[in-house]
Amino acid sequence: MDSSVPPETLDRAAAEAEVEALRAEIRRHDYLYHVEARPEISDAAYDRIYRRLQAIEARFPDLVTPDSPTQRVGAEPRDDLPTIPHLAPMLSLDSTQKEEDLRRFHDRTVKSVEGAVQYLLEPKLDGLSIELVYLEGVLDRAVTRGNGREGEGVTENIRTIRSVPLRLRAEERPSPPLLSIRGEVLMSLSAFESLNQELVEKGEEPFANPRNAAAGAIRQLDSAITASRPLHFLAFNVLVVEGMGFRSDEEVLHALRSWGLRTPERVRLVSEVDEILRYHEEFALERDSLDYEIDGIVIKVNDLDARTDLGSTSRHPRWALAYKFEPRKEVTRIERIAVQVGRTGVLTPVALLRPVEVGGVTVSRASLHNREELVRKDVREGDLVRVQRAGDVIPQVVERIEEPERERPEPYRMPERCPNCDSLLVVRGPFTVCPNRFECTAQLKGRIVHFGSRHALDIEGLGEETARLLVGRGLVSELAHLFDLTAAELEALPGFANKSAENLAAAISRRKNVPLERFLFGLGIPEVGVAVSHDLARHFRGLEAVRAATREELEEVPGIGPKMSEQIVAFFQDERVAAAIDAVLERGVRPKPPEAAREGPLDGRKFVFTGGLESLTRAEAKRLVEGAAGTVTSSVSGETDVVVAGEDAGSKLERARDLGVEILDEEGFLRLLDSHGIRS
Ligand code: IVH
Repeated sequence: MDSSVPPETLDRAAAEAEVEALRAEIRRHDYLYHVEARPEISDAAYDRIYRRLQAIEARFPDLVTPDSPTQRVGAEPRDDLPTIPHLAPMLSLDSTQKEEDLRRFHDRTVKSVEGAVQYLLEPKLDGLSIELVYLEGVLDRAVTRGNGREGEGVTENIRTIRSVPLRLRAEERPSPPLLSIRGEVLMSLSAFESLNQELVEKGEEPFANPRNAAAGAIRQLDSAITASRPLHFLAFNVLVVEGMGFRSDEEVLHALRSWGLRTPERVRLVSEVDEILRYHEEFALERDSLDYEIDGIVIKVNDLDARTDLGSTSRHPRWALAYKFEPRKEVTRIERIAVQVGRTGVLTPVALLRPVEVGGVTVSRASLHNREELVRKDVREGDLVRVQRAGDVIPQVVERIEEPERERPEPYRMPERCPNCDSLLVVRGPFTVCPNRFECTAQLKGRIVHFGSRHALDIEGLGEETARLLVGRGLVSELAHLFDLTAAELEALPGFANKSAENLAAAISRRKNVPLERFLFGLGIPEVGVAVSHDLARHFRGLEAVRAATREELEEVPGIGPKMSEQIVAFFQDERVAAAIDAVLERGVRPKPPEAAREGPLDGRKFVFTGGLESLTRAEAKRLVEGAAGTVTSSVSGETDVVVAGEDAGSKLERARDLGVEILDEEGFLRLLDSHGIRS
């Protein structure tokens, strides 16, 4: 090929040959730069090759292929992320911080595995877990972990990551017809810090940690935004492969690398606990010098046959363990103590800190939880304190550091009146609460943020700052008003432009068709989290049925006890709550009940659970059965197909015996799920 020929004068045949050669060259340099970290050419030289490919493709658009390096960015923004099932369940990892658990893991493994045990040790990457699927060597889709069985399709966004090959390298090893791999998306600490700085300058809320920043980038509806945030992908597992097999994890990692994927650094093969401890110690020390976050090490049985023998529980494999680091701690001074009013009216004292770097992240506030905690820790304004940041938890004040020489002010006293609405505060146990549920704008702001949050209506762009503005300007004084907002009203708010105002108005309007479980969670019913919202939606199959449910009916749902049923009934019986929900419905919001799984391996079989289960909760067991089209009822009758009897099973077990119903213990139940490939 002669790259001096101007693209305009190339004929089609010459262009066709040249684009393939240019693509191969770009792929090689991408690989050298992003995977091997040993570039062979300058950025300028790379740009020249890239621009030539672009120019030729522009002249012969029919030569453009989806796996061309020019096609990483440029997909149209989407309305929603699709739900896509995984090719194999993405389990989570069992994890510990205790050496004794590690020893127990080792003992158990040694006992169950024939011959010598070898472990592969890897850093535990603190990012976002993703499945990538390659068909005939070409990237077909990328899916977030989600609930482990299905996740969100984020293909367009993942394509923008340079360390993700759009086409697998096939020099050393041919591409399999089907390959599904698992790995982690990370944002480097340096990119994270500059992104946060940019956000703060624009008056937006910064991300709490690099993992949230990476997740935010990956869940964008517009891949151009993802492309502007530098992300990395490290692969560490093959979920499914066709046409070839592997004997060990070591071999898997080698294959992943030969296909052009980046894999975790400094993996080590060991067989003794002492070696694991040493690796853990070494990485704990090195952790701060890495440009991405790790939160521990992962210990995995290397031999894949041994893994099959060890198997998995419904949640995690028995062949792997995450051995986490102690949370990072730093010392700083409390400049001031303030209180924050949350959506439920609870006042949280917050320590405003002299900013300090805790493991690469700047921390300037930390929660002091509640009044009793404040007294217990005896922290006051001006005190020197140790703060810690553990995973995605809000930074915490761990302890006060004694300074015998220093004079301290009086202990901080919680205010008597709400700093926001001036209502007289009420003391409930350790909590100080603003009782003005409907008029206190701080609570309203909290409710709006919660309503739009990720597990609720998931309205992009409805964050703290926007909620504050909407409430402050009187545009929203109850949730229903969100659905009246026009793009013109939003555009008048500081920080909004034409496009962002339209996007937010459209995002809110789209959510009139919201899954029931999300709507229920978004209402912020006391005690009701994501899992219970799901169970309520599945059980009652309609908003009105949930609203009308009695305490007894609610307690039919596994996982709902007397305390929760009381809260739920009281919530829906409150006249003002009822009016607020009606107002939302009047705006055309139609919470959609979940579809009954019509086909599944447990098709129509009726299960009753009695007694306690060890490895999963009742609610999880119910979800698994229902997800496979079985049903769960609370009493044993002639119709019952299976009774699962856990610890201390009572009269239901007796009745099952009397009626001759099939009885399974927990192991038996898990085996049944396994035999049908049902996993959480
Ligand atoms: S192996 C189920 N290896 O940690 C076993 N996972 O709590 C397959 N993670 O989100 C996972 N680094 O994605 C494995 N080197 C590593 C990892 C790793 C991070 C993530 C994983 C999951 C979480 C589990």
